[in-house]
Amino acid sequence: MENVDRFITSTKNATDLEIENSLRPRTMKDYVGQEKIKNNLEIYIKAAKNRGETLDHVLLYGPPGLGKTTLSHIIATEMGSQIKITSGPTIEHAADLAAILTNLNKNDVLFIDEIHRLNKSVEEVLYPAMEDFALDFIVGKGPSARNMRLKIQPFTLIGATTRAGMLTGPLRDRFGVICRLELYSVDELKIIINRSANILNVKLDDDACTEIAKRSRGTPRLANRLLKRVRDYADVLGEGKIDIKMANKALELMEIDKLGLDNIDRKLMLAIIKKFLGGPVGLETLASSTGEDATTIEDVYEPYLLQLGFIARTPRGRVALSSAYEHFGVELSADKKAQLDSLKAVSDDGIY
Ligand SMILES: Nc1ncnc2c1ncn2[C@@H]1O[C@H](COP(=O)(O)OP(=O)(O)O)[C@@H](O)[C@H]1O
Ligand SMILES: [Mg+2]
Repeated sequence: MENVDRFITSTKNATDLEIENSLRPRTMKDYVGQEKIKNNLEIYIKAAKNRGETLDHVLLYGPPGLGKTTLSHIIATEMGSQIKITSGPTIEHAADLAAILTNLNKNDVLFIDEIHRLNKSVEEVLYPAMEDFALDFIVGKGPSARNMRLKIQPFTLIGATTRAGMLTGPLRDRFGVICRLELYSVDELKIIINRSANILNVKLDDDACTEIAKRSRGTPRLANRLLKRVRDYADVLGEGKIDIKMANKALELMEIDKLGLDNIDRKLMLAIIKKFLGGPVGLETLASSTGEDATTIEDVYEPYLLQLGFIARTPRGRVALSSAYEHFGVELSADKKAQLDSLKAVSDDGIY
């Protein structure tokens, strides 16, 4: 049966889990791209090791599948530290986090995925832990209540989130290193795909590799997922080496277009262009009119549509830009095109 799961998702599916472990790079050298982040981290790691200190707390943010979890493991390895892994939604009570923190050994890395989803009382435990390597609590009740402070081992917190804007100010301020992961270029994705093809023992033409890279939305997780699906088609059709024809056929069957857009991207873009006459349309309105979840639109779909220059975010909502009209074959008057292109220039300057 054809897998009816959505191809572009924010979360990992079972297939991902199985292949991700085998494909996940273990060293900085194998971690492709994100050069600025890597260079900085390498310096901070070296400096911390030379001083015999823990690495500053690190916040990694960016869309799903860009390598936040992978990088966290690599940081721990390079520090020569153990990594403990947890996530915002799984820590329900302050006491759960306190238990995790008191069990850390010196210089351990604590990785909290989806750190924006920590609840308030849990988050408050983190503040003194991050700042002073201590836990504060109150003993007793009423007038005899006293503040107690318990020291914990120095550790490095690595937080990962899809959006730094969703973190509270006090939490964000306690990270010494804040890294924003960028979407990957086609060339970088090709290196990743070739490396994965080697590990999976898939034979792939350079053209086929380029085609998969172009349709991966700048996202390594999707690149690996596409490679795996293309390999499935090739296996079933009994052809050995995957060439461009084979890759194209497989990608078409998956309804991923030349730019990596799927049905939901098309639905979103056509809603803005047709239903809302090009916008601006607010995120919530767009979500309810398309039946999609607003957070998913913002975290999973929008980053790539923004990068393609298909939409601009304005204070009044999302606007479709002229390249989107072109791609979806919707006509645009010269006046409107000029207006949209000047809007694009403004939004590229980061004014909005
Ligand atoms: N920079 C990279 N170089 C090579 N492969 C990568 C890179 N970043 C991510 N990957 C691949 O993509 C998969 C998903 O990355 P992951 O770290 O789980 O993303 P995130 O935690 O940001 O959602 C990894 O298993 C790995 O195979
Ligand atoms: Mg992750």
